[in-house]
Amino acid sequence: MRYLYLSLLTFLYIACQNPKKNQMDTNTVPTDVHSYSKPKQAFVEHLNLELKIDFESKKLEGTALYDIHTEDGVEEIIFDTYDLNIIKVEVGDELDADFDVGPKDEILGSPLTVSLPVNAKKVKIYYHTSPTAKALQWLSPDQTSQKEAPFLFTQSQAILARSWIPCQDSPGIRFTYEASIKVPEGFMALMSAENPKEINPLGQYNFNMPQPIPSYLMALTVGIVEFKEIGPRTGVYAEPNMLEKSHFEFSDMEAMLISAEDIYGSYAWGRYDVIVLPPSFPFGGMENPRLTFATPTIIAGDKSLTSLIAHELAHSWSGNLVTNATWNDFWLNEGFTVYFEQRIMEAVYGRDYSEMLALLSYQGLLEEMEELNAKNPDDTKLKLNLESRDPDDGMSAIAYDKGYLFLRKIEESIGREKFDTFLKNYFKENAFKVMDTETFLGLLREALTEEQKSEIAIDDWVYQSGLPKNHPIIKSEKFNLVDTASAKWIETDDIEMLKTDEWSTHEWIHFINNLPEEIDTNLLVSLDEQFGLTNSGNCEILAAWFQVTIRREYRHSDVAIKEFLIHVGRRKFLTPTYKALIERDSTKEMARDIYRLARKNYHSVSKGTMDELLNWKS
Ligand code: BES
Ligand code: ZN
Repeated sequence: MRYLYLSLLTFLYIACQNPKKNQMDTNTVPTDVHSYSKPKQAFVEHLNLELKIDFESKKLEGTALYDIHTEDGVEEIIFDTYDLNIIKVEVGDELDADFDVGPKDEILGSPLTVSLPVNAKKVKIYYHTSPTAKALQWLSPDQTSQKEAPFLFTQSQAILARSWIPCQDSPGIRFTYEASIKVPEGFMALMSAENPKEINPLGQYNFNMPQPIPSYLMALTVGIVEFKEIGPRTGVYAEPNMLEKSHFEFSDMEAMLISAEDIYGSYAWGRYDVIVLPPSFPFGGMENPRLTFATPTIIAGDKSLTSLIAHELAHSWSGNLVTNATWNDFWLNEGFTVYFEQRIMEAVYGRDYSEMLALLSYQGLLEEMEELNAKNPDDTKLKLNLESRDPDDGMSAIAYDKGYLFLRKIEESIGREKFDTFLKNYFKENAFKVMDTETFLGLLREALTEEQKSEIAIDDWVYQSGLPKNHPIIKSEKFNLVDTASAKWIETDDIEMLKTDEWSTHEWIHFINNLPEEIDTNLLVSLDEQFGLTNSGNCEILAAWFQVTIRREYRHSDVAIKEFLIHVGRRKFLTPTYKALIERDSTKEMARDIYRLARKNYHSVSKGTMDELLNWKS
């Protein structure tokens, strides 16, 4: 009896934790201008993916078998594709179906329309990817850290999943999945799913993702990697020669997970692991459920850049659990995540620490805001209108840091305790659902008094350009001390004045970012001699320093800049560095010469941005 009772409890627990079927309500499903699919008529519920990975031809080949839901009388289902080669489509029990691949739009790709018999429940698509699939980066051995074997990773967000899986590529459409992936012998395959910890000698891997996710969280990576545990629910994967370093760097990950759960409720995804990818990964991190993909540029040797892990972990609530309905609501994913990231960092490392991070982001926001305001002030609103544009255009500091400041404003106005209760409930009530800006604002207004509403001025934050005057003020005593020391040093030319012994990475970055525009190059020489900035092993410090050296035409860093741009593909570093180089006549050519060599090492996402920036015709 007791056993029966326990089994029933376990069953109920699993049933609640793993909502098998899509809970989509076709009446409220958002209209997404970045997807051809028409979920109000037919949508996918479960995917069974079978793929073979071929490093030689740079292709994935196999089948995507979907369980689908159709409304009465609907005779077709539409998928998004981008340069996919569709071989055939079957519906029901292996019945060949008529299908049509529509004309290609440069941003959206092509719709794949499949004709359905009445009551169709399954669609199976036979396909292979193109060697230039935008989501995929195929690395040769010399582009990896170990330099012995090739490597593959995907980057699906925002709308690149359709270049490796035919899918309804809209964040409002969730599905569960299982996958069977065949890789060459000796390689490991990992996905945004339950993952292996060891290499399967035959190269055959089976995956299961029992919680429904949107397509932008579909992820796959194949390479020679090893696993090392951090805590009971956390661990790290990396190429063998990066494993120990990565393990040390992320050793606080279990503590971060526990702090996060303390704040906004239990973690819904089982394990939380991170894989450290080769340096061409175009982002800092990507919150693929159960397995964050991360850049090796956060491995600094002193855990100083791990707020990025807190950020990706925070997405397990904001983004992965409660998901932006469309890319116009992107700030709901990223602004909430920066806010939550800050809270995790504060819980683990203290307020002084998290305030330094907040102030660095705030300064970055001001700079970017100015630039965006000059180009297109509409892009500085939280709620965006990205119709006819690449959703990638919405990936600016606005969604992240203006979004963060808005939430911080609410916290400051209603008090942390109330705001935490509100958010905890928000994540619980909306788990595995989509959220758009208006629905969130409705919930928020219900929780606020009239006085609080007028103090916060919600609409100004969300629907107006620029930064509202009532924004929170961030102060850091530690940064004030750096400013004083820096001024003294510049005045006296006495490097002892800097007293850098206790400086953290963040104080260094603040110091470098705030060096005067017209600083004497001799001061830069002595700074570099004393502290070896040009050879810093910390990529954030390095990238900040290059801004100064390029602006002041301090040539001693040129070799290091070239080296950096050739090896690192993280767009956040590439953009400002190339920008600074092309802004000056003396380094314009250098930028193009480096890009000519480096371009082949970049993922399509970074290539796209740099091609535009450098006006590159390939
Ligand atoms: N989800 C984003 C990355 C992303 C956004 C990829 C939009 C494609 C389209 C991820 O969580 C992120 O925000 N990464 C940041 C790091 C973070 C600490 C601000 C990055 O990569 O820099
Ligand atoms: Zn993010």
